[in-house]
Amino acid sequence: MNDVLQNLHDAGPAAQLSTVGDWVLREFTVVGSTNLIAADLPAWNAVVAKIQINGRGRFQRRWISDHGGLWLSAVVPSEFNSPAGRAMPLAAGLAVFDALQSLGVENIRMRWPNDLLVNNRKLAGLLLDQFKPGLTVIGIGINVFNAPEVRDKSLTNQTTRLADLLPDPPSLQDLTALILHHFRAVVGQMHDGGFPSLLPRLSRLWGPPRRIEIDLDGQLRHGIFNGVDDQGRLLLSDDAGQTAAFASHQVTHLKELS
Ligand code: BTN
Repeated sequence: MNDVLQNLHDAGPAAQLSTVGDWVLREFTVVGSTNLIAADLPAWNAVVAKIQINGRGRFQRRWISDHGGLWLSAVVPSEFNSPAGRAMPLAAGLAVFDALQSLGVENIRMRWPNDLLVNNRKLAGLLLDQFKPGLTVIGIGINVFNAPEVRDKSLTNQTTRLADLLPDPPSLQDLTALILHHFRAVVGQMHDGGFPSLLPRLSRLWGPPRRIEIDLDGQLRHGIFNGVDDQGRLLLSDDAGQTAAFASHQVTHLKELS
């Protein structure tokens, strides 16, 4: 059975269907991965599940997706092999940043390309997939009431969740609607002004310059993270003052050293 069929099989009974703003939303109780369910859907459809048994993180890592977190995938029109498509991971991160900030979450910053951190702990992560030409699946995981470190001790002190950051965290239903609203808005902005129109805002979200190590599929490079270029590529300035740009598919790991 291929992954998509396996997912529909895992998803069990049919989803509950509703409209949320401009979106058609399918709500499941348990799935393998919401991104793989969304793989078959047209633009402006979204999938949310209470639990993912095979949650996928970037670079084939697993993403612990127990009850209490937001596990959501949204299908948007975008071509991976276009400047806008290549920058979509960052634009989607910006949309989630805006949504979380509107809830009153303080001290959020982005770690390239699109991790959302509070006090250096991961609050949310995004995984974008292109299963069909012209359609991108934006998968977002946000820790809300869940505690991933219970199942993976290596995550102790590495993650945070909305329930610990807000006196009155939103319901998963309200959070879903809010995130979808911001995804719709950012795709509109990308359409109207392209990624460069988002750059001034995005460039304020990385926090102060810091020293990083990037892994280019086995080859390590060190330097100062210097924001992104107009395609969303990471800019790394080395000790000799040379700056090089790296796309997100080239960087298999990024470690912050300061
Ligand atoms: C990462 O930081 O490694 C990305 C994590 C992305 C997790 C989300 S949860 C909803 C969607 N479905 C998945 O299987 N993964 C993404």
